[in-house]
Amino acid sequence: MTRRVRLLLRSAAETEALGAWLGARLRPGELLALIGELGAGKTALARGVARGLRVEDPGAVASPTYLLVVEHEGPVPMIHVDAYLAEKTRAFLADGGLAWLDERRGVAVVEWADRIAEYLPPRTLTVRLGPRPDGGEGRSAELSAEQGFDWLDGLVEAAGMGWS
Ligand SMILES: Nc1ncnc2c1ncn2[C@@H]1O[C@H](COP(=O)(O)OP(=O)(O)O)[C@@H](O)[C@H]1O
Ligand SMILES: [Mg+2]
Repeated sequence: MTRRVRLLLRSAAETEALGAWLGARLRPGELLALIGELGAGKTALARGVARGLRVEDPGAVASPTYLLVVEHEGPVPMIHVDAYLAEKTRAFLADGGLAWLDERRGVAVVEWADRIAEYLPPRTLTVRLGPRPDGGEGRSAELSAEQGFDWLDGLVEAAGMGWS
């Protein structure tokens, strides 16, 4: 069953709050695919996920471009992948990176995930970030998953209640 949720994120703080809400629910081995242009808020969302996962230093989450992969240690590590340089990321994944990711039992958060779509597992939670449809401040977010992630059903209510 495909799940799809659309939200309005009125500020960077709300983008992070969504990330934290997701991070508190993602399980080891799961993958969060982030899609959106430069400045869409992918890294802000990733920082929130790090907070939700309770990694040791969520403030250290930054755009990892040119590093490809950064691991943030914690009870469940967050593996932050930047696929902007898709050829390099593909080479890494094909050359043992996928197996390494799997062994870490962390939560993988992939920026520019659409560039490595063929490597995403069927059980992926995707977040598309974009401008607000009305052109105002903030961002729109569309979350979708083709299987699993049944807790997404509680997202709209959580957002309405201030992310509790
Ligand atoms: N919902 C939002 N409303 C307004 N600004 C936002 C929102 N989400 C993120 N931002 C801001 O947008 C800028 C770009 O965010 P960033 O996460 O670096 O984007 P990306 O990683 O997609 O390039 C940052 O200044 C961030 O604080
Ligand atoms: Mg970024």
